[in-house]
Order: sequence, then C-alpha cells, then structure tokens
Amino acid sequence: MSITRRRFLQQSGMTAAALMFQHPARRQPAPPVKPVLDPNTLAQFVDPLPIPEIARASEFRPSPANSKVKIPYYRLPMRQIESKVHRDVKPTLLWGFGSSSPGPTLETQSGTGMLVEWANELPKTHFLPIDHSLHGAEPDKPEVRGVVHLHGAKVPAESDGYPGNCYVPGKSALYYYPNEQDAALLWYHDHALGINRLNVFAGLFGLCIVRDSEEDALNLPSGKYEIPLVLYDRMFDQEGQLYYPVAAPPRSPWVPEFFGNAILANGRIFPFLEVEPRKYRFRTLNAANTRFLRLSLSNGQIFHQIGTDQGLLPAPVPLKQLMLAPAERADLVLDFSDYAGEQVVLKNGVLPVMQFRVARAKVTDTSSLPSALRPVPKIAESEAVKTRTLTLGELDDTKEDPVNMLLNNTHWSMPVTENPTLNSVEIWSLMNLTEDSHPIHLHLVRFQILDRRLFDAFAYLNRGILRYRGDPIPPDPNEAGWKDTVRAEPGMITRIIARFEGYVGRYVWHCHILEHEDNEMMRPYDVIAAR
Ligand code: C2O
Ligand code: CU
Ligand code: CU
Repeated sequence: MSITRRRFLQQSGMTAAALMFQHPARRQPAPPVKPVLDPNTLAQFVDPLPIPEIARASEFRPSPANSKVKIPYYRLPMRQIESKVHRDVKPTLLWGFGSSSPGPTLETQSGTGMLVEWANELPKTHFLPIDHSLHGAEPDKPEVRGVVHLHGAKVPAESDGYPGNCYVPGKSALYYYPNEQDAALLWYHDHALGINRLNVFAGLFGLCIVRDSEEDALNLPSGKYEIPLVLYDRMFDQEGQLYYPVAAPPRSPWVPEFFGNAILANGRIFPFLEVEPRKYRFRTLNAANTRFLRLSLSNGQIFHQIGTDQGLLPAPVPLKQLMLAPAERADLVLDFSDYAGEQVVLKNGVLPVMQFRVARAKVTDTSSLPSALRPVPKIAESEAVKTRTLTLGELDDTKEDPVNMLLNNTHWSMPVTENPTLNSVEIWSLMNLTEDSHPIHLHLVRFQILDRRLFDAFAYLNRGILRYRGDPIPPDPNEAGWKDTVRAEPGMITRIIARFEGYVGRYVWHCHILEHEDNEMMRPYDVIAAR
C-alpha cells in the first residue's frame, strides 16, 4: 500500500468495503527493457505535417437499402507498414490502413450511403504485448484479430464493428454506412475485443468527414484551408520502434493507462505547416489511448471551436485553451491574419506539438466564421422515459492493482442490462466512483450533456447513500452540442440525455481510455423494438 493511499484512507476513515473501488496505488509499468527515445533530443519543426489522403471509391455498387441506387464502395485493408515519424528517426513499424496511419480519410455527404470492405491483411503475429488474461484475448484466441468501428456513425448493428466480431488475417467484413446524420467528423478505428488498445496503438485508425448542405452554406474555410489534425501520444525505443509498456506480472502485462512522451500530429513528431495569414479550419481528433490533451497556442491567441463530436455547435466558442479527452473531436477555426510572418506553436500543456509558419504576404480571405452555426434543440428532460444510474468503478486486487474497471459493477460477459426502446429518450447518470476522469462513449446515438454534479462517493460506497456536494454544473459552452463521448469526472455524477433512434440491435458503450475498455470497462447494450 502506498503512503499516500494509506494516509488518504486514514483521513477518510474508509471501511474495507470501500477499498474495493478506490485506487491511488497503481499497477506500475515495469521499467522499459530498452532505453526509450527522448523526443527532446529531436530537431523541432523539420517535417511538414502529413495530410492523410482522401479515400477513393474503387467502384459503385447497389445500395443495400435500395438496389436501384448505386453507392461508393471502398476497400481499406489493415496492413503492416513502415512510416517515418520524424526526419531523424528510423522508419517505424506500424499497422495502418492501405499504406498509412492515420489511414485515408473517408469523405461523404450526409444521406449518401457508402460500403466499406475492411480487409484484414495483417501478419499472423502481433508485435505488442498481449495480455491473455483479458476477455477476448484468451490463449486459445488468434493473436491477430481486427474489426473496424466507425466512431460516431449511426449504423445498423451488423455494420457497427461489434468487438466480438473481430476476424483474422485473410478475412474481411463488408460494412454499410447509411450516413443518415448531420455533418460531423467521425473516425474509424479497430475495436477488437481484449487487444483494442494494442491495435489502435499500432496505428489502426483514420478519419471520416460527413458533410451536408447546411454546413456547406456557412462558407467556413474549406479546400486547402480545412486541415485534419489527428493527435496522439506514443513512446519509441532508440531504434524508432513503438514501445508499449508492460506491467511486472509476466502473465498479465496489462497496464491501466498509457502515457507516451512523444505527441504525434497526423503521424509526425513536431511537424510544421505553412499557412497563409487567414482563417483555417482544423478538424481535430484526440486519438490517444489515455492522454487528455490541453491545447493552446504559443502566442496566447484566441481560437474558436465551431463543432464538437457530432457536428456544429450553435455558435462559435472562443477559447484560449481546449481540453480534449480521448475520442473527442473539436472543429476549430484559427485565424492567422494578425500574425503574418510569424511562427505560432500549437502546444499541449507547455510542450510543443507542431508549428504554424505564417506567410508574410497579405491574402484576401473570403471564408467566414458566422456568429450562428446550427441550432442544437435541447432534448427536454421530461421526454425521458427512463433514468439509469450507472456506476464507473474499479475492482482492485489485494495488492491494490486495479484488476479491472467496471461499468455498473458488471463484467463484459454478463447479460445485457441497458436495453433502451427504439426512439425513446433516456437519461444516463454516470456516477464516477474512481479517481480518474473516464471519457464515456455510446455507440449509435448522439447525446447532450445535462449537467455534472459533485457527490459524496464515500457515503455512497460505504452506506449506499447518495449525497450531493454541490449544485449541478452545466456543460462547458464547447460541450453544449451533440456529443458521443463525455468526460465523466471523478467524484461527480455526469448526466447525459439521448434519443435511441436509428436501429434496433446490439451495440456497446464504454470508456474510451483503451486500457480500461480492454479490461471490462465496456458493456454491450441493446436497442429493442417498441412493443
Ligand atoms: Cu471510438 Cu467503441 O469506439
Ligand atoms: Cu463509437
Ligand atoms: Cu476509463
């Protein structure tokens, strides 16, 4: 037991029962066997920011929804590739889609369906440390498995990439995406049960941009002035190869979180981007396993967030700093017009991520940053037919390593407990009993954040009493739009409201810290037909 934990327990007078859930003492990663690469030794801003290519449809096929309509068909193979993360680092072995990680960006129009064949062309052995004690990764399971989920997409269950539906090299799955949803930045990533953190860490992710006429009419910066920005942290060994830490127990290498010392933007460490002194739109994604990003600009400049996970906000929100949890997206407008000839650095905390080199020559900028974007009609609480209180907890073993993380105190393999009726509205009250913030994601639906409220977790754990410790706090202005991932803060009850529209079938909800998701912090849920 660590000192801090013991003192904490003494002061809080917690009972043994409560010990089950709190966990300041962490399962520590074993020291790296090889020395890791120190990014501070690398030259900054020597590589141009890579822009993932736009995926090209190889043919048009009849739509599963209407065979008279032909829709684009894409084939995106998961492959082992090599990629330069920095000019002075040797090529890194990665898993990507086609020939890159992030993979090609899918671009589509709302209401136009698409077919994607996700082919598994990976090698038969994994190059990252599998923990065979985790669900779905048992020793009898093939090492390499993949299944692709389009995060934020409203899709029939059979095309959602259910974690248990993962498949081995040589196999593929053909998914149909109706794209009946508002313009938004979605992203695709692997979702294989028990090894998802490793597959995504290896590089299996990419973007999908859904556009619509309402958004197009806003005249936001577009074309070469609209830039995708996928941010994530990694660790490398001295040979430039990915390093993923392992815990000390040799049979259970799972670690509860991953924090890398290098931040990558679109696959590069410290890249630069040449920009004109004008407005740009950055479609930003936090694709990290665990790390929450705190983004700001070196010149203290204000930027505007115009959209969140599921599309446009009602109005631009001016920000000096942006907090982005894993899987959250932020649609940002940066205006460089006052900074001609200067260099502006995008930072995460105090550390540089990338550099913008603003050209000297004045340009005319015909794009707009409208003061009103898209209304987000509030779902009334009175519409909710059900409120579910769902705990976010952690089960510790005797050595206080978190053994696994649980949603509502249930394991992945237990029977479904969340089963909203199609088209009904529900409130989910996420009661966080741990000391971490967990970004909670629901598949299929978009939701709104109602509020967050401090409560007494000890009273709840010890005596089962719900006692609030403050007033409900409304979501931040840049969260007050359509979301699919929400920060459930420690010691707080975070309430979200959703209409479960779209399709009946089996989906999942989970924490998007991938280490948590792989270790029980994920549950199946069913959308059921109205009787
Ligand atoms: Cu980003 Cu279940 O996914
Ligand atoms: Cu998702
Ligand atoms: Cu979590």
